Amino acid sequence: MIKHSRTEDGVDGRLVSYSDPSSFIAEQYKVLRTNLYSLSPGKKIQSLLITSSQAQEGKTITSCNLAYTLSLDTEKKTIIIDADLRRPSVHHILGISRKPGFSDLLSGEVDPDIFLTKPAIGKLFVIPAGSIKAAPSEILSTAKVKDLIDNLKKRFDYIIFDSPPVLNVTDACILGALCDAVIFVIKAGVTQKSMIEEAFHTLIDAQAKPKATILTSVHFLLDSYYYFYRYKYYKYSDKKE
Ligand SMILES: Nc1ncnc2c1ncn2[C@@H]1O[C@H](COP(=O)(O)OP(=O)(O)O)[C@@H](O)[C@H]1O
Ligand SMILES: [Mg+2]
Repeated sequence: MIKHSRTEDGVDGRLVSYSDPSSFIAEQYKVLRTNLYSLSPGKKIQSLLITSSQAQEGKTITSCNLAYTLSLDTEKKTIIIDADLRRPSVHHILGISRKPGFSDLLSGEVDPDIFLTKPAIGKLFVIPAGSIKAAPSEILSTAKVKDLIDNLKKRFDYIIFDSPPVLNVTDACILGALCDAVIFVIKAGVTQKSMIEEAFHTLIDAQAKPKATILTSVHFLLDSYYYFYRYKYYKYSDKKE
């Protein structure tokens, strides 16, 4: 396993918005934040699911950087939830404990207030994945997730969900249908067109609303940085509305 550098307070260096806030990449996450603000003028997007077709395409790094960047906005309150109950890693990036978390919350084992009274990193509130449970799809398909989102919407401006890939399991579709928008991550040079198409169809069939795509792993010769993303509006679902 590759060991990534950590800041003094244990945060993974790939949370660039935190570890290197004045960098070019951190600035690009701010561009992404601005684009998000204007994603759906007139229609409030508060709950967002970040997903992709397969594993290892950059969902978690993107979710964490986007959520942290949103939390820097003094006027907005943001929470990130690790809904990848199969391969959870938000806690790993943020350098916090995985338990208790989302799965424990949904199974009624913990009080939501333990996540909501104080932010876990900077101004960012976090609900990590929690204990590993059997049957994550069943946990996610309960009405409790909808109730939780409705309650969080009263307290937060942005609720960001990290999730498993669309093509392997149904979890992202279940959650995507409950969120205001889905942002789809594509890894440059890796994600195949057929995978993207299949994942989009799967999401749309499940009533999820893909609104934008982010291209990760675009290589630029820029100082020591090699990773970057491109962001673009996704027009397909706009046409359907
Ligand atoms: N924007 C990016 N550019 C290049 N590599 C990235 C980017 N985001 C993530 N990665 C790398 O891709 C791998 C998978 O990232 P991760 O966010 O864990 O993916 P996923 O959550 O989709 O499984 C990691 O090694 C990570 O460092
Ligand atoms: Mg992940």
